[in-house]
Amino acid sequence: MTREELVQSFYEVYGKTGGEPVCVFSPGRVNLIGEHTDYNGGHVFPCALTIGTYFAARKRDDRRVRFFSGNFSRAGLMERSLDRLEFDPSKGFSNYLMGMIWTYREKRGLMPDTGMDIYLKGDMPHASGLSSSASVEVGMGQVLNALFGFEVDPFDLAVLGQFSENHYNGLNCGIMDQFAIAMGKKDRAIFLDTAALSYEYAPIALDGMKILIICTNKKRGLVDSKYNERRAECDEAVRELRQVVEIQTLGELSPEVFDKVKYAIANPTVVRRARHAVYENERTVRAVELLKAGDIEGFGKLMNQSHISLRDDYEVTGIELDTIAEAAWKVDGCIGARMTGAGFGGCAVAIVKDEAVESFREQVGKAYLEKVGYAADFYAVEIGDGTHVF
Ligand code: GLA
Repeated sequence: MTREELVQSFYEVYGKTGGEPVCVFSPGRVNLIGEHTDYNGGHVFPCALTIGTYFAARKRDDRRVRFFSGNFSRAGLMERSLDRLEFDPSKGFSNYLMGMIWTYREKRGLMPDTGMDIYLKGDMPHASGLSSSASVEVGMGQVLNALFGFEVDPFDLAVLGQFSENHYNGLNCGIMDQFAIAMGKKDRAIFLDTAALSYEYAPIALDGMKILIICTNKKRGLVDSKYNERRAECDEAVRELRQVVEIQTLGELSPEVFDKVKYAIANPTVVRRARHAVYENERTVRAVELLKAGDIEGFGKLMNQSHISLRDDYEVTGIELDTIAEAAWKVDGCIGARMTGAGFGGCAVAIVKDEAVESFREQVGKAYLEKVGYAADFYAVEIGDGTHVF
């Protein structure tokens, strides 16, 4: 969407009186490898996309805060107030936006002095698991910065976005999504150590290849509760392991040490959950080394292994994502494919040679339709910059 189109849509809802709005773009993200490691003190390797959420916003001269989503225009104008910042379950997506106002006040003592009118519209596939909620949270932070002159830098935006998601919206997510979205850079993935919050950018030079996102189109119902359940299982593993080894998180364990101490975990299911977290972390570190050495084939093989571990040990894939990954692995010219994000539906990511993209779509699309009964969607995506004013 161009700036002119966005501003035009804003005027259609709120009128021209009051002047030009500020415009912000906040991307979605895809994680290339390192899944369900970010709340275990491990490594992740995500990047920001060139698709995401567009915001146009203007100050008001009262205390009302109004939102209009171009994706849910039938819902009409949503109205909240600066004097009632608390979570309101009847107010849908506006909680992701109000959550940031609340978080700015709670964590940084920053409070807008007036209300505001906000128009937002996303161009990511709906409910795809490309992290539209983090995109909205971090984007809202940038809107507050732009409108009220708050100086919250991108690193801090990520931290505050995660805080808002955890403490206002109640999903106990790690920091990966907000970090990738706030800190993303064009043509770079972010190698982030979630324990130290130290990071480096790695160039993704995919000459002659595409990053494809394959959307399951599965309705995601139980994601939040399953997600929180996996977190609790990892916490249980840490508690039991601490009888025999001094750790704070699973990310501190190498696979070798884990295999020696795993006897301390009573429940075999919990052993598998912990094994995924430990091995996936090690795989992510190795994958980035391979990529830096130019070994994209080796990187792709680790993506495949990541999926297998998420399927068998962590059990967050399901028939939809497994069908996509398993069909993808059979396509000549597919470098690697795996589920990405939280799982339980959402989408998969694949690296595919340019000349194989068409047959990839055909073969994976056919296998999916046959097995699952409805179609998957395919998107070639590009790696873009983090949340910014434009
Ligand atoms: C969701 C969460 C992230 C991360 C992934 C799994 O996207 O928001 O913090 O835990 O799942 O890797």
